[in-house]
Amino acid sequence: MNSVSTIVELRLQIAGWRAAGDRIAFVPTMGNLHEGHLKLVDAAKEQADRVVVSIFVNPMQFGANEDLDAYPKTPEQDSALLEERGADLLFLPAVADIYPPSKSEVTVVEVPEISDILCGASRPGHFRGVTTVVAKLFNMVQPDVALFGEKDLQQLIAIRRMTTDLNFPIEIIGVPIVRESDGLAMSSRNGYLNESERSVAPRLYQIISKIREKLQSGVSDHLLLEEEAAAKLHAAGFRCDYITIRRLSDLGEPDEGESQLAILVAAWLGTTRLIDNIVINLD
Ligand code: PAF
Repeated sequence: MNSVSTIVELRLQIAGWRAAGDRIAFVPTMGNLHEGHLKLVDAAKEQADRVVVSIFVNPMQFGANEDLDAYPKTPEQDSALLEERGADLLFLPAVADIYPPSKSEVTVVEVPEISDILCGASRPGHFRGVTTVVAKLFNMVQPDVALFGEKDLQQLIAIRRMTTDLNFPIEIIGVPIVRESDGLAMSSRNGYLNESERSVAPRLYQIISKIREKLQSGVSDHLLLEEEAAAKLHAAGFRCDYITIRRLSDLGEPDEGESQLAILVAAWLGTTRLIDNIVINLD
């Protein structure tokens, strides 16, 4: 696997593949790779001849009080894992390549509505940072297909909408959540949990799984299900940000009888904010 850090080198390598008629898949990441990321690479290999992975811890998507400086950085380990998994190119840009220093503010890409609800309400500006960097990376890599984890469901939906609205000729593929054996969704942030928090963390998935079970058995009072679940989270030691049943297409409030739903949760364990979701089709 080749590694490049400048946009010029990246474009040169990709131009060669394009000239040979190769189809290109892209997996953007912030590094500290785990099996969830590597499954994106596996899925990318099924979609294309060449797989490009980027590692860039994007400052624009972190709020002032968030974990940008503490965000785990493991470039050597990441590179070895990607090599093992058969990625073709690793793009490791510097902050100055993505956001060249300038006195004026940079151009941003902001997807309306979806960026302001749920995680967007708790983390103002987060999705603006995500869609801005992903748009920039799309323009640099110009892939045929890009893959994102369904764990960040709101991010995936915002990126799909951006891709459609801005006419990027890129197919967006969501890859199912990868879970630990006890059900906890894999995340770089799981590494922040201490031993006792780690033992409680799987309750998150158990609690949303219970909502799924009740929806599937015909319970239709969403408010009641959400309130019961929030109480369970509280009892387990979480500080709940939201636990909610939404319409899958845009994460808006579902109309009565809506069958394509997502159950989404964000909750704090100590200083760590965890998210999870389950997609459900009631048809
Ligand atoms: O999901 C992530 O790791 C990031 O939000 C992404 C898509 C790489 C953009 O920085």
